[in-house]
Amino acid sequence: MSLRGKNILLGISGGIAAYKCAELTRRLKDQGADVRIVMTKAAKAFITPLTMQAVSGHAVADDLLDPSAEAGMGHIELAKWADLILLAPATANLMARLRAGFADELLTTLCLASPAPIAIAPAMNMEMYIAPATQENITVLASRGFSIWGPGEGVQACGDIGPGRLLEPADLVERVVNFFTVDKQILAGVNITITAGPTQEALDPVRYISNHSSGKMGFSLAEIAQKMGAHVTLISGPVKLTTPKNVERVDILSALDMHQASLAQLDCCDIFIACAAVADYRPEQVATHKIKKQQGIDDLTIKLIKNPDIIADVASVENAPFCVGFAAETQNIERYALDKLKRKKCQLIAANDVAKSGQGFNSEKNALTVFSETERFDITLATKKVVAKQLLEIIAQQYSQK
Ligand code: C5P
Repeated sequence: MSLRGKNILLGISGGIAAYKCAELTRRLKDQGADVRIVMTKAAKAFITPLTMQAVSGHAVADDLLDPSAEAGMGHIELAKWADLILLAPATANLMARLRAGFADELLTTLCLASPAPIAIAPAMNMEMYIAPATQENITVLASRGFSIWGPGEGVQACGDIGPGRLLEPADLVERVVNFFTVDKQILAGVNITITAGPTQEALDPVRYISNHSSGKMGFSLAEIAQKMGAHVTLISGPVKLTTPKNVERVDILSALDMHQASLAQLDCCDIFIACAAVADYRPEQVATHKIKKQQGIDDLTIKLIKNPDIIADVASVENAPFCVGFAAETQNIERYALDKLKRKKCQLIAANDVAKSGQGFNSEKNALTVFSETERFDITLATKKVVAKQLLEIIAQQYSQK
C-alpha cells in the first residue's frame, strides 16, 4: 500500500490504449491511492465513463461547463486535490494542446490550473510519435518539468512495429510509486540545518523592512531531508507554514537573530542549507516608540547598515559544515552563481532565475541550476517538493564525496 493517502488524477485522452486504464486504475487503488478520472471527449469512444466510474469509485469528470459537476468537486478543487496528474494515454493531440496552453476543455484546463506535478505516458502510432512536431512538443513539455514516461516499443494496434505503445499498467504503477518514494537511506543520521523564509528588520515597534519570501522552498527541503533520514533543524523567519513532521523549528525575526541561531547549531551540523531571503541591510537605529509624522517635513531618511552574511560566516568557521547557498538572479546566472560560490566559500550554489514568471519567490514551483566548483546540474520546473527531492539527492551525493 505504498500509495496510501495519495490523490492521483488520471487523465485519459482518445487512443486505443485507453482500454488499459481500467486495469491501471485498479492497480493504483491496490496500492492505496485515491484515483479520480478525467476523460476527453475522444477517450469516451475507446472506454466508457461507466467502466471508469465503476473501477475508480467516483463519477468521471468530463465537462468544463457542467453545473452539476461544478457543484460537487469543481475543476479548481480537483486541480488542488491532485498530488499527481497522470495523463495516460497521452495522445499527440493532447500534448500539442498542453504545450500551447489550451484551456477549452476540462483536462487541459486542469493541467494549467494545478500545482501538482504532471506525468505524461504517450501512446500513439509510431509515425505520429516520431513526427518532428510531436518530438518538439515532448521536449518542450519535459523542459517545463513534466515527467515523460515511455512510450514502450513493440507491435502497435495498427500493426506497425516501433515506439508508441502505452507502458503497461504495472510499469506505470511502479513509476508512480517511485515518484512518491523518498529514499530513506541517503541522508540517514546526517545533521542538517536549513534557514528559510524572510527576515524582518524593525524600524520601530510597529514597522519593519522585509520581503515576499514564502518559506516554501526551505520548508519543502526540511520535510524531504527528514524523510531521507536526516536530523533537521529549520531556522525560520515569519511565515504562514506548518512545521514538517519530526523537524525541529527555531523561529526568528531579524537577520541578527538568524545569524545567532545558525552559529548556535554549528556543534552538530554536517550540512548547512541557506534558503532564507535574508535582508541585506537593517535600520541602524530601531526607534523605541512609533516614528511620528513630522508637521511640515516631507522627507524622512533612514540609515541602513549591512547585516552579517550568515552562510559566509558559517562557511568560515573551523571544521565548517558542507554549505549550500541559494542565488536568486535575473541575469548572468552562471557567472554570479560561481562568484557567490567562491566568495561565500560554499560547496554548492542553487541558482534560480527569478526573472522567469511562475518560479522562485512566493510561487508554488521552482527550477534550479546547481553549481559546484566543477559541475553543473539542472533541475527542471516542478513543484517545490519535487525540486527539493532532486536538490537533496545532489547534496547527498556531493556530501558523500567530500
Ligand atoms: O548575497 P546574496 O544575498 O545574493 O546570497 C544569497 C545566499 O546567501 C542565500 O543562500 C542566502 O540565504 C544567504 N545569505 C545569508 N546571509 C545574508 C544574505 C544572504 O546567509 N545576510
